[in-house]
Order: sequence, then structure tokens, then C-alpha cells
Amino acid sequence: MNFQALAMIVEGMTLDEKIAQLMQLAGHFYAENGGEVTGPMADLGISDSIMGTAGSVLGVSGAKDLIRIQKDYLRNSSQGVPLLFMADVIHGYRTIFPIPLALGCSWDLVAAESSAAVAAKEAAVSGVHVTFAPMVDLVRDPRWGRVLETTGEDHYLNGQFARAFVRGFQGHNLRQDTDRVAACVKHFAAYGAAEGGRDYNTVDMSEHQLRSFYLPAYQAAIEAGCQLVMTSFNTIAGMPSTVNRWLLRDVLREEWDFTGVVISDWDSVKEVIAHGVAHDEAEAATKALRAGVDIEMMSPCYVKHLHQLVCSGVVEESLIDEAVLRILQLKDSLGLFENPYRGANEEREREVVLCEEHRLIARDIAEKSCVLLKNDSVLPLETGTKIALIGPFANTGDILGAWSWKGQSEEVVTLAQALESKIDIDQLTIAQGCDVTTGTNEQREEAIRAARGSDVIVLALGEASNMSGEAASRGNICLPLVQLELIATLKTLKKPIVVVLFNGRPLDLHGVLDQVDAVLEAWYPGTEGGTAIVNLLFGDRNPSGKLTMSFPYTVGQIPVYYNHLNTGRPEEFAGQSYVSNYLDIPNEPLLPFGFGLSYTHFSYSNFALSTDVLEKGESLLITVEVKNTGEYSGEEVVQLYVRDLVGEVARPLKELKAFEKILLQPGEKKQVTFSVTEEQLRYYHSDLRFESDAGEFEVFVGSSSVDVQKQKFTLRC
Ligand code: BGC
Repeated sequence: MNFQALAMIVEGMTLDEKIAQLMQLAGHFYAENGGEVTGPMADLGISDSIMGTAGSVLGVSGAKDLIRIQKDYLRNSSQGVPLLFMADVIHGYRTIFPIPLALGCSWDLVAAESSAAVAAKEAAVSGVHVTFAPMVDLVRDPRWGRVLETTGEDHYLNGQFARAFVRGFQGHNLRQDTDRVAACVKHFAAYGAAEGGRDYNTVDMSEHQLRSFYLPAYQAAIEAGCQLVMTSFNTIAGMPSTVNRWLLRDVLREEWDFTGVVISDWDSVKEVIAHGVAHDEAEAATKALRAGVDIEMMSPCYVKHLHQLVCSGVVEESLIDEAVLRILQLKDSLGLFENPYRGANEEREREVVLCEEHRLIARDIAEKSCVLLKNDSVLPLETGTKIALIGPFANTGDILGAWSWKGQSEEVVTLAQALESKIDIDQLTIAQGCDVTTGTNEQREEAIRAARGSDVIVLALGEASNMSGEAASRGNICLPLVQLELIATLKTLKKPIVVVLFNGRPLDLHGVLDQVDAVLEAWYPGTEGGTAIVNLLFGDRNPSGKLTMSFPYTVGQIPVYYNHLNTGRPEEFAGQSYVSNYLDIPNEPLLPFGFGLSYTHFSYSNFALSTDVLEKGESLLITVEVKNTGEYSGEEVVQLYVRDLVGEVARPLKELKAFEKILLQPGEKKQVTFSVTEEQLRYYHSDLRFESDAGEFEVFVGSSSVDVQKQKFTLRC
């Protein structure tokens, strides 16, 4: 439909019909035998009849139901405006992929795109139109429970993943490709910088910091064509994002040319009252609409107050018209006016959702996402090894992680099931050892008995999936004590111990990394997790993941991230003056950004620059040869970092600028070429000019942010 036709529809709508388009409610009241307003819905003070007119619904799916709901809705719609179905399809719909933080560790943008495409397809055939993803919040604090939803601590990498996820969810043409869904980037902005890692907490930072690190990934998603933006719960400089006109209008719409729909997060319009920037719901509605929120999710301020606010002249109706038009444009771009049922199709739903093909893709991506953190020559396991599989995650389907909505733990291949189908039954003993946070003497003794008869102990440890995610921050990020005690007990048997970790955040790994022979970080690997892990343990696949978030030495070090500033008293000045360090712990994280082991070894040689003077408008080519010097074929993530030695403001010690993941057979050598231009060296100056400065730069190439070789070049502008 063209703009004029949509504008005509808006013109033909009553004020109440328009306001209803701005309302989004959860879908449970649409259940077949439902329709009754009870519980939290009743608490919102919204009547049955108003609910029936809401322009969008969240959290419902299933082709049969959604077709029925859409039919009923259209019967009552005077203008024939279809209902929009949105949902949290974050790392899979029913076939669950590794959590986004794990996906980040794959450094594989094709994998990220294909995971999003599969998730979109399963969701679309089940009737969903919009997913509340990707979440691209930059994170530096693993206490925050939501670090699992993002790809990590680096803005460049997050931006690359943001684009890949948007491409995967949306494809090229949402109107024609009904196997895709519209994407909603979130949470705008800087939700990941909550003070102390406590969810929903205050965020405060300079605009320089915000623009340099926190905004780029949202912008990347928008450049990739993302259709919606969700506001965040936090304040920045005292202003809740949901009523932050500067963020939502000046930055998002004016600077970035975003023409899509802005939606508040759950209840966040009403929460500005608790934030203390509105007296009541009416004022909250006024501020949010003026700031640029089109759809209010799950609070009733718009629907209860906008009518009166327009009639009394407080709010201009034109603001409502603009918001409605944007919502109708979104519905139109999805092709809903021509086909309100879009991809919803019961038969295809049965064929596509959790099909074998999707399971295989999920397995492949899980294999790419695990990170080998330690290996003292115990992995890969040899066939014939007698294994004692012990621990609270040995035989559980609770390895999907938070935000796996339709994923079901009974559909997961557990580690025990995968091992049972890989090795002879008499070579495997399984024991619980302890539960996630508690344990009994019997469990401990059973574990010791199992371990005694084995050649290798595989310990499956971690956090229960509800220990990370929304409203799941932790002040202590060690493994629960009972699990550390289990390690200590089993260590007395002097058998090799391999720990497989299931968790949603970087952990403080003292008592683990220093105690056992090998550690495989499996994160929450999803539906095919067990099989993927067994393939890695036995070397059928070679681990290739690299951390995208630093593992702190201890919580006292947080925030700890690789691209920090030098300070005026860096540690290398030790002995000369007071330096910036701790008395009791190192400055460096336990495990750095970009780190991850393989069963093979890679050597780097012939690191060369095409020139040592880069002119504006030209490219500097950086080449390095990487050779697989070990016995297994393997993938390596070759990383390129840059340091601007003297800037107008202090510049990070290293910044990731490019990376390439390559596959090498034993003995094989490949040359990797990166290109750096002046544009990649631009940064925000003190007056927020985004420009480069002529001068000297260091360039680093290597296998992690720490294990690098260095050269210099000069930029001439
Ligand atoms: C979360 C969002 C999510 C929304 C809808 C909120 O609580 O912060 O990330 O998309 O709920 O479920």
C-alpha cells in the first residue's frame, strides 16, 4: 500500500481506534475459552472491549490460534487493519540455539544469520510477525543476568552480529518472504551498563562513552534495516529511556534516519512514575508519546489517558496520527493488509518446527559456540576410555537457557543421552554428584563410587538456567559452593577431570580452572547441546570458540574489559611511582577477550604491512600467515586490533577492527589479509566530532586480545 492509502486509513479512524493501535497487551486473554479480563490484566484497569481492539499482541503463537484470533479481530475492525503478533524469539523458537553470548563466541556471522533465519521460519509458520530481537546491549559486568542475551563486550563485534541477526530474521523482503519476521533491536539504550550489574538499575555515563561504545550496535542494526526499536528500562543521566526525547527523536530519528516503530519495554511507560519523573499515568503517557514511543507495551497509560489528553488540548492528535501511521506502515511492510494470516500455516508448522534439518543446524552452531578454556592433554577423549559422567548437568534438559520460550527441556539431547549413544554402556557410569546448589552425602558417595571405576571424570557443572536472564543478577559469580566441593572431593581420587560448564555469564572460575585438567565452556548450548558437546569431547569436532566477554579474576575486578584506557599510571610504571593496580589481585582478567583453545596449534608468521604510511582515501593491507602445526584440522579466529597512540582524548589500549575465521588442515598454511582505512580509525573527540587524527598507530594481529604480534604505521591526513 502506498503512503497515501495508509494515511487515508488513519484519517478514517476514530480517536479511540487510533489509540488502540498504540496499545500492546500479552496474548493470554485471547485463549480460545478466554476473553475474560482477570489477574494482571484486570489490574491494568482495561476493559474487555478495549482489549479486543489493541493493535498488537505479544507472546502468542500457534498457526491455528493466531488465524482464529486474526479472523475474530478483523470481523470487528472498521478499517480492516490487521492485528500484529510479536514475541520473544531470541535464540530459537522451538529449536533452541546456543544463547546469544555463546553465539558471539563462535565469531561466525553466517552461523548467527542462519540461526536467526531458522528461528524466524519456525516463528513465522506459527503466526508470529515480529521478534523482540536482536538484543545488542554492550556488557562489561557479568553480574548482570542479561549478559547471556548479548554477544559481548565489544561494540564492533556486537555491531557485526546485530547486522547478521537482522539479516537472518528479516531476509530481503518481508512482504514476499513470509518465512521471515520483522526484527526489533533492544534495549535502547545502554541497558547493559546498569550500575553494579543489578538489573533495571541506574545508568550514567558521558555522551562520549555512550556514543563510542554503547550506541554503535543499535545503529548497526538500524543500518541493516531493522524495523523496530525497543526502549530500555534504565535512566541515562536521570532520564528514563522511555521518555528520553533526545535519544528517541534527536539521535534515533534525526541522526540515524530511523523511520520504523518504537515500542516501550514491558510496563516501562508506567514505570516512569516509579522513576520519579511523572506524577501519574497521564503524565507518563504524555511524556512517552512526546519522546517518540509509538507502542506502549503492557501498561495502560496511553489507552486510559490519551483520549482525555487530546480532548483537553494537552497532547496533539498529530502525534498519535504519526505513531499510528508508522504502525500501519509496519503492518503493510509485512504484507498483512493483503494477507493478514501471513506465514501462519498449520501444516507447515508441523513440518518445519523442530525438524531434523533445524536440529542439525542447531548442533553445528552449538559445536562452534563452545570455548575450550583449559586442556592439559586430556582432551580429546580416546575411544575406549571409561567415563564417569557426574554432576547436576549430567542428565538434564535444563541447558536451553533463559528466553527459550517454546523450547522444551524434554526435547533436549542431554549430555548423558549423547554419551550413551556414542560409547558402550559398560564404559559409562552416571551419577548426579549434587544438585545445582545443594547436595547430600549419598550423592557424594555415589559420585566417588562412579569415579573410582573410571579412567576420566567428566563433570557437568554450572548455573541453573534461572540463575541468569532478566531479573537474575548475582553478586557472587562463582559456581555454587556444593559444586566446588564436588570438584575438591573428586580431585582426591587423582583421576583426570574434565569440567563441562553450563552457564549464562562469565564466572569467577577459581576452584575450577586451577583444580581440573580441562574445561569446556558450553554455555547454554540449546536443543542439541548434548550431542555437540560429546562431538567436541571426542574430537569429532575441534573446539573453535573464543570468548567475547572477559572472565574476571574475581568480582572485585568488575568491570573488566579488554579495550580499556591506559590511565596516567599504568602498571608498567611499577617501581617508579604509585600505579593503577590492586594490592591483592592482578589487573588482567582470568581469561581475556578473544581467548579460546583448540586441539591443534596455530603459528603466526610473516606479519607484514603494505605500507607504513596510510594516506586518507587509501587502504593499508595487513597480511599474516597462519599455519596449523598440530595434528587435527581446526578453525582459528584471526583477530586484528589497533591502538591510536596519541589522540585528542585518551584512546583504548586495543580496539578490535576486523577478524576472520579460517579452517586449516594439519600442516596447512593460509595467508589472511585485512584492510584498514582512515575511516576505521575515526573516533569521538571531546566535542563529539567523529574524525581521525594524523599520527602513529600500533596494529596487532593474533589469536586473542593478548596473544598478538605488533607493528606500527602512521596515518597521514
Ligand atoms: C524484556 C524484553 C522483552 C519484553 C517482552 C521485558 O521484560 O526486558 O527484553 O522483549 O519483556 O517479553
